[in-house]
Formats: sequence, structure tokens, C-alpha cells
Amino acid sequence: MSNKNSSVFPPDFVWGVATSAFQIEGASAADGKGLSIWDSFCAKPGAIADASNGDIACQHYQRWAEDLDMIAALGVNAYRFSVSWPRVQPAGSGAWNDKGLDFYERIVDGLLARGLQPHLTLNHWDLPDALQATGGWANRDTTQRFVDYALGINARLGDRLASIATHNEPWVVATLGHEAGIFAPGIKSRKTAAQVSHHLLLSHGLALRALREQGVSAKLGIVLNLAPMHPATDTAADRAQASLEDGRLLRWYLDPLFKGAYPSDVLADLGDDAPKIEAGDMQLIAAPMDFLGVNYYSHSVVSADKSYKAGSTGLPVTDMGWEVYPEGLTELLLRLKRDYPVPPLFVTENGGAFKDQMVNGQVHDQDRLDYLARHIEAVAEAMRQGVDMGGYMVWSLMDNFEWASGYEKRFGIVHVDYQTQQRTLKDSALWYRDFLQAKKQF
Ligand code: FCB
Repeated sequence: MSNKNSSVFPPDFVWGVATSAFQIEGASAADGKGLSIWDSFCAKPGAIADASNGDIACQHYQRWAEDLDMIAALGVNAYRFSVSWPRVQPAGSGAWNDKGLDFYERIVDGLLARGLQPHLTLNHWDLPDALQATGGWANRDTTQRFVDYALGINARLGDRLASIATHNEPWVVATLGHEAGIFAPGIKSRKTAAQVSHHLLLSHGLALRALREQGVSAKLGIVLNLAPMHPATDTAADRAQASLEDGRLLRWYLDPLFKGAYPSDVLADLGDDAPKIEAGDMQLIAAPMDFLGVNYYSHSVVSADKSYKAGSTGLPVTDMGWEVYPEGLTELLLRLKRDYPVPPLFVTENGGAFKDQMVNGQVHDQDRLDYLARHIEAVAEAMRQGVDMGGYMVWSLMDNFEWASGYEKRFGIVHVDYQTQQRTLKDSALWYRDFLQAKKQF
């Protein structure tokens, strides 16, 4: 396996590992940090499966130097991380927190000193709680607050960043956070969710324009969670439902970003819940990007009566209950190239949660190792078929706070013992290191 696809990947291909601030940093109130909507959400009874929170997490705020050493030792050339907005601007507007900015300065300079490219995400979901008090992403004014935040980060760190992604997975923020209510801020309104999705896209467009005016050397883009939608059966009902779900998850974001318009079938389905759009918004959203980040975990199998059970057709499922389906990644990347004028694509997240066992200081996570190997091969296959790929990043560097699942789900290629904070490279990490090493010798 390891050398089969070596020749497809150019020497400057970006190989990385990914994390996000709230999931690893801990130090939730240290050095002047403000609260985020995830700090508040975790405090709601029943919101998080194991009643945990991000107060300590992986203590990355304290252990960042050893963590960066660990990343470098994997032999990757890039690290994707996010900035906690309330750590650097506690109220989401106005005063900046120097101690918070200093922390990210240490990360960026520490990465560069180790020969690693910094890939920064501005919004990996931890909106300042103070902005939620004035409506959060449902309030159009939050888009301007986001522009100020983006400009502040670019002014301080931009000259040393390889890339800046505005948002991570806006669908999750809008739909899980504001329609299903199972993620922060825990709102249950389809109308609010639709407006939030528009404001996230608008703030992306506004930030891109402002950053380019300010002067930016980092590549600019956005990160979407995308999955091919497969009807469970060939019935008209399942096919129609899969097509609508494809509209909601993929085209609702891809069409405005690359075609300047929301898809008409989803707008029709939303009816009175459709978002308010002001003149000029759609042109802003469709501003050219330097890259598109794709987070891929699985395909989705859609049945109109919701009867389909993951794994029932024999595909293995991960500990999240998601089917392992690497072919879907090739299919997705080819579809993006076919349907949209996309810039270079990066897989910005890919990985699996599995029930790991630590035995004599080792974690033989063959399932995760196979998962990664097969998905990297799926990327290679898309490249052989002409897709312009810039990089691939594993989710995640280490076990961490998996949102509403708390610490019960482990996605890391590095095991974290939450009692001692000891990090242990799992077999998947050793495999990734050897895979990258072999590539260098090729
Ligand atoms: C993605 C998130 C990431 C992580 C993975 C498992 O939706 O971007 O933070 O939780 O799922």
C-alpha cells in the first residue's frame, strides 16, 4: 500500500494533522480568555454525553511546545489549527487580549521553527459568548465583528501563515447548532438556521474582501463538510429525498460560493424560512478563493422514511456509527471538479473514531490505520483522474473533546490519557510517519 500512490503526490503536497482550539486547548478562563458559546453549552445539563467540558481538554495551552515537537516527529509538513476568538478578543468586539494573541504567536513561530506550515482556521465554532447575547450568527452585525476579528488576526500573524480558512463547516454551525439544537448554541429553529447559514457565508465573503484590501500573503478559503448522498433504494421517494439532502448539505454552500446563488429546490423547500438576503450579498459570497477545504468522513445513505441503518449493507462502521466508505471521497472530489470552478482542493479533515485499547503502552488501532490508508488512496485516485489536490490532513492529531460526545469518542492518531495527559503514538501515527518517510525516499 505505502508506495503504490507515492508517485501521484508531488513533493510539495501538504501533509498534515488537524485540531481545533476548543477541542484541545483547555485553559478555558486563563490569561483573560472570554467564554465561548461552547463553554456555556457544556454547562447545560444533558448537552454533552459524558457531562464534560473544555476546561482542561488536552492542556494544549500549557503543553503546546511538546505537542509541536510531536507533530514535527510525525514527519508531516503542515498543521491545521484554529484560533479561539474569545481568547484573543474576549467580548468578540473591542479590546484585544495580548496574552491570547501571544499564545498563537508562539504556535505560529513554533511551527515555522520546526519546518511546519501553519494553516489557521478563524471560526471552528467557539463564538464569543458575548456575541451570542446579541443574537450570535443570527444577527447580521456579527458578520462585521467577524471581519474585525479576521483583520486583527491577519495583522498580527498573517505574514507567517500558509493559509487562513474563514469558517469550519458552516452547515454544522447552522444546522446542528440552530436547527437540531444538539450543538452550541442549542437553538431549534429552521428559520434561524437558514439565516445563520447566510450570515456565515456573508461573513466569509466580507472577510475575504477586507483581508485582500488589508494585504494578505496567506491563501484564503473556507472548509466545508461534504458527503455524497446515496439513496438507500432506487425508489422515487428515496431518490427525491437524497437529492434534497444533497441540496441542503452540499449545494446550499457550494452554489453561492461558486455560482453566486442559492439552489432553487432548497429555497422552495424552505419557503417562508428562507433567509433574508440584501443586495450585493451574493456577489460578496462568490468572491474567488485560493483553496477549498473538504472535510470527509463518510457518505450518507438517505431513505425517505429514515429506515436505513448504517452498516446494514455490510460496510464497517466507526465508533460514531459512520460507514467506512473511501470510494465516496474519490466520488466527491470528482464531482466538485465536474460541477464547480473550484480552486485547489485540500482534504482538511479525514479520520475515524474507534474503540482503542491501550495494551502495554501501545495502541494497535489497525481499523484507524486501514481507514487512513484507504482514504489516502482515494485521494490518489481522484488525482489520477485529474483533480487538483493541494493537501491531506488527518483528523485528528490527538484524542480530544469531541463536542456533544465529550471525551467518549477518540479520533486521535495519538492517544491521550486524560488523567496524566500523557501522549502515546498509536499504530496509525507510526504508520503515517513511515508512509511519509517512505515518500521522501522515493
Ligand atoms: C468535524 C469537526 C471536527 C471534529 C470531526 C470529528 O465535523 O470539524 O472538529 O469534531 O468532525
